[in-house]
Amino acid sequence: MPDAPEVKAATSNGIPPPSFNLPLPDKPEIITANVQKLTEQTPNPRHKFIFKALIKHLHQFVNETSLTTDEWMAAIDFLTRTGQKCTPLRQETILLSDVLGVSALVDSLNNPVAGGATENSVLGPFFTEDAAEVDFGESIASEGKGDYMYVEGRILTTDGQPIPNAVIETWETDADGFYDTQYADRSYPDCRGRLRSGDDGRFGYRAVVPVAYPIPGDGPVGELLLLLGRHNMRPNHLHMMVEAPGFHKLVTAFYPDGCKYLESDCVFGVKKSLVVSLKDIVDEEEARKRGFPHGRSFKLLQYDIVLLTEAQSAKMRDGVDQERCIITEDHKKF
Ligand code: BEZ
Ligand code: FE
Repeated sequence: MPDAPEVKAATSNGIPPPSFNLPLPDKPEIITANVQKLTEQTPNPRHKFIFKALIKHLHQFVNETSLTTDEWMAAIDFLTRTGQKCTPLRQETILLSDVLGVSALVDSLNNPVAGGATENSVLGPFFTEDAAEVDFGESIASEGKGDYMYVEGRILTTDGQPIPNAVIETWETDADGFYDTQYADRSYPDCRGRLRSGDDGRFGYRAVVPVAYPIPGDGPVGELLLLLGRHNMRPNHLHMMVEAPGFHKLVTAFYPDGCKYLESDCVFGVKKSLVVSLKDIVDEEEARKRGFPHGRSFKLLQYDIVLLTEAQSAKMRDGVDQERCIITEDHKKF
């Protein structure tokens, strides 16, 4: 007989059994109690807090729904396919978090505002780092990408002082409802730009009127929305991300009123304060002055963006934690 190939014996992860024995369950509740008892050993207090809550709610969910084995297997199959659908360009798991409202909730809890500061909205998967620099008054969209829109405003502190030299990233779909990255033949960034506020905090640029568009519907998340009888549309919006030294980074979007999907955004990104009214400017001379090469009219979006300082934002976040009363010093952040 030839020698068997050398195989290393299977070993544990090195953590010894606990100093106590768990009762062997004679009813389902013991399973939950046992998992919680073992989780008590988690060395990092924040991890322990998170996982104890996760187990509590997950087990409660299974009990409350009397989940069947087939249903749990269907859920596992769904989550597996969700992960498998991800590529460097497609993030189906984030999309799942988006349609379940978890992205919007995490974002809102982590970016509370006050003092008239501009609220956050979901980032989404279509931001890219390669937007062209756009000077004041220039266009982020190539000609023919949609109806004209001019966007202008100021970047301000909560006490109304201008914030100069803030970096503003902005992106949107074209009139067909596609981001440039959704075109297989994308050869340059379009409908996106990087600007800076002036000494007086002002910014201004030409863009196109955004349209409502569907989030990707050809994966497990699309199936889920059909199962739930939900549409997969986002109301029309213009994304903006603003950064300035000493200020809390703002990731937001503006939603023109009148869209039929405004109150049922499939990713729950709309907030009341981010709904805007576009002005109709029908004036050929004004259109030309703003740099629009054709047409007599354009829409005007005016909005002053107010940033919190880092210190203001940190104070607000602490306030949220305390209000919720469940986070002690020990349970805080990793
Ligand atoms: C977006 O607005 O670009 C977006 C946000 C969440 C999911 C899909 C798209
Ligand atoms: Fe978007």
